Amino acid sequence: DEYVWFEGIPFPFVNFPPEHLRNVKENFVLKDEDVLILTFPKSGTNWLIEILCLIYSKGDTKWIQSVPIWERSPWLETSNGYKLLKDKEGLRLMTSHLPIHLFPKSIFKSNAKVIYLFRNPRDVLVSGYFFWTISNLVKRPESLEQYFEWFIQGNVAFGSWFDHVRGWLSMREKKNFLMLSYEELKWDTRNAVQKLCQFLGQKLEPDELNSLLKHSSFQVMKENKMSNYTLLPSNLLDHERGSFLRKGIPGDWKTYLTVAQAEVFDKVFEEKMADLPQELFPWK
Ligand code: A3P
Repeated sequence: DEYVWFEGIPFPFVNFPPEHLRNVKENFVLKDEDVLILTFPKSGTNWLIEILCLIYSKGDTKWIQSVPIWERSPWLETSNGYKLLKDKEGLRLMTSHLPIHLFPKSIFKSNAKVIYLFRNPRDVLVSGYFFWTISNLVKRPESLEQYFEWFIQGNVAFGSWFDHVRGWLSMREKKNFLMLSYEELKWDTRNAVQKLCQFLGQKLEPDELNSLLKHSSFQVMKENKMSNYTLLPSNLLDHERGSFLRKGIPGDWKTYLTVAQAEVFDKVFEEKMADLPQELFPWK
């Protein structure tokens, strides 16, 4: 149940041998037609996958109801995901939690479309705490206090949230890069989906968009066994202890962090992110 460290980043599963991660970084070739979903874990990755699948199937639910979500937009850094992606013809939707310094180098010369989804790190922290409490992949945090420390220090899966976001946001001026926050996606999903369609060069009819909004909603996704992770064996995810789709709201951190923790968090955020334009972060 230990982490595997690679170039300063803790990886959670047995699924990430260093030679594989090195190979991905050096040799995976991105194509201009590729569409990438990049996130720090617990930022709404799977929600965005569901939305993109529904964009490409024009609101039709066949795909999302017959193929597990991790096969529709595989994780590049896992050996299984890599295999599915490597020789795939046509549209390649792919997902990654890799920080920019470990990402395939070919991204810097490619016009692949990149969507970086990010979320209030306080909610990422709380969501991560609950996730790691039901997962059997690495050692469980004993308390939220303990996980809070790990998160601030970057000793959680895929490292420091602050470094991850800072690294990827450095790409934000590129025309093939779209930054999207979980909050704007939640507060005005319709508008955010239209923005996504425009970025991807896709067009949806009104009834297709309505179907997309319905089927990617928290409640409907939670019922879809191809998307709610109940197909994962319980030696990986202990379904008795909680659900992958937990609450699906912004601001839930206020229920869990103490006033003192919130103050510490504000200070760390300020220290680490002060030089970035603060209007990038919509949750203030
Ligand atoms: P919570 O734990 O706060 O509920 P990821 O997919 O990156 O692991 O992120 C998981 C988080 O996204 C969880 O947050 C999960 O509930 C939330 N999520 C998943 N599907 C969602 C949806 N359709 N709408 C809103 N939030 C969703």
